[in-house]
Amino acid sequence: MIRILGATMNNDADKPPPVSRAALRDGTPIVIRRALARDAEGLARLDHELVSEGLWTVRERSERVSSVEELKRIASYDAPDRLLIVALRGERVIGEATLKAHKAARCAHVALFSITVAIEFRERGVGRALMGAACAWADAHPSLEKLELFVFANNSRAISLYQSFGFVAEGRRDRYVRFGPTTYVDDLVMGRWCAKATGNPRNA
Ligand SMILES: CC(C)(COP(=O)(O)OP(=O)(O)OC[C@H]1O[C@@H](n2cnc3c(N)ncnc32)[C@H](O)[C@@H]1OP(=O)(O)O)[C@@H](O)C(=O)NCCC(=O)NCCS
Repeated sequence: MIRILGATMNNDADKPPPVSRAALRDGTPIVIRRALARDAEGLARLDHELVSEGLWTVRERSERVSSVEELKRIASYDAPDRLLIVALRGERVIGEATLKAHKAARCAHVALFSITVAIEFRERGVGRALMGAACAWADAHPSLEKLELFVFANNSRAISLYQSFGFVAEGRRDRYVRFGPTTYVDDLVMGRWCAKATGNPRNA
């Protein structure tokens, strides 16, 4: 077992996760699997890149996540209604996606989705591979019925990916994010029914 600042988790060797192999559009092989303790550094590097880029997250550079916090986050996703997966090129973490069911019992059938791909690997198929794995996991989950996400209204690349997996815009939060004294961006709320959900029009 590993214990850091109150986070306890299985040593990587204790619980080898299922691995799924995929190929990017140019044929580059990648691996997708649940995040392990040894991915904490790589996830922190990915987060640093995202906040330094400064375009697609509400967090500023000073709000970056450290590798110790990433280790705690990985441990916190070791739960039946949560998923934290990484895309790996060799040993390098080149993307991550999460699903996290609501804590409140009345909303526990809904899980929040998030995704990030490293700049160098964007628009090569990593996002589609991560999203496919996450949606398949949610569709097979016994209690999840719906996925939701929040996305900046100007993030057309992400919105197009989400729409291709069945997400639809359910609401718009005007001027939700402030980049500067007079610079705001709207935020979209998007939702997607899981395959077996009664709310899914395909099951009506
Ligand atoms: C958004 C993001 C996750 C997409 O992942 P990706 O690996 O770049 O995307 P993929 O190469 O798998 O492309 C998947 C789909 O995205 C869309 N897409 C990709 N590039 C696009 C572009 N330049 N313009 C519009 N849509 C685009 C297409 O629908 C594409 O479908 P296709 O596979 O049929 O071509 C990734 O670019 C990223 O991490 N961006 C920065 C962080 C971010 O925006 N996170 C989401 C916050 S809500």
